[in-house]
Amino acid sequence: MLETIEKHIRTIEQTTLSTPEAAEEFRIQYLGKKGILTALFGEFKTVPNEEKKAVGQALNALKTAAEAALASVQTASPTKKKGPSEDYSRPGYSILPGAHHPISIVRNEIVSIFERMGFAVAQGPEMEDDWHNFSALNFPPEHPARDMQDTFFLAKDPDWALRTHTSSVQVRTMETQKPPIRIIAPGRVFRNEAISSRSHCVFHQVEGLYIDQNVSFADLKQTLLEFARAFFGEKTEIRLRPSYFPFTEPSAEMDIWWGLENEVDHRMTKGTGWLEIMGCGMVDPAVLSSCGIDPSTYSGYAFGMGIERIAMQRFQIPDIRAFYENDLRFLRNFTGAL
Ligand code: DAH
Repeated sequence: MLETIEKHIRTIEQTTLSTPEAAEEFRIQYLGKKGILTALFGEFKTVPNEEKKAVGQALNALKTAAEAALASVQTASPTKKKGPSEDYSRPGYSILPGAHHPISIVRNEIVSIFERMGFAVAQGPEMEDDWHNFSALNFPPEHPARDMQDTFFLAKDPDWALRTHTSSVQVRTMETQKPPIRIIAPGRVFRNEAISSRSHCVFHQVEGLYIDQNVSFADLKQTLLEFARAFFGEKTEIRLRPSYFPFTEPSAEMDIWWGLENEVDHRMTKGTGWLEIMGCGMVDPAVLSSCGIDPSTYSGYAFGMGIERIAMQRFQIPDIRAFYENDLRFLRNFTGAL
């Protein structure tokens, strides 16, 4: 047996495997399931004990020689076909640039304008209890003002709802921070409304709140004018119209002068030339008390605006549903927008 093995080793040493086919044939012949090595290892059992050591070593040498012969062909002539990746003259694949969502673009811009004025970003949960969404904001139980905002209540516990506005973050901030407070709170809000081109049941708002000693309505007006000019352009004019919100007194709505030059302007401003941007007002003393802030020492203003409305104006998007459909043909328009 020893002789047979040595003969095989010599044969292997003299063999040159020049083609992949020859190599495969060699592999089957020596290393295959029914190959020479399997047979020899099978025979090994019958080798007398005193010869086992020598035969065993020879067998291992044969196996190593066979594997080495095979390995040398595989590294010398890779069987892999030349693929397109090796054609260096081909043009490269272009990398598609990503885009921010238009809601993010507008939100980031609003936030950065207020950050420059010293406002810090605050957050709150999207699932809120009645206290933070309504009661602390001066909506008494059963008060018709609650109907202004159609609410998604949680089926298990009607004390909980999806927040209908980011004003709830005002309450959470005042409960946990001491004045002076100057925050901006962007976030998602929910209302049980029929979906149409102008309204959706999920949308975004940015809330602002400033609480300190001697904060006046003039401070509110100047801050909003500053914002309007930074966002809509240096020459933007604003006006404040009296309005009503349970949590502010006095309350107002801020419009910007949009112009009335063409048909689109007429349609967008309902023929007035003014475009409504946000609600605002002086924080109602009752709200300050509810949140543990003494209204005899502190006063403040608050404002809230819808991001979708502003994004629709900025990008001339006629249908609010476009924001949530994830249609790439729409989203690609914002590549490089900011
Ligand atoms: N929360 C109001 C809404 O969703 C918007 C608003 C109006 C917020 C006046 C304010 C404010 O902070 O002062 O319609």
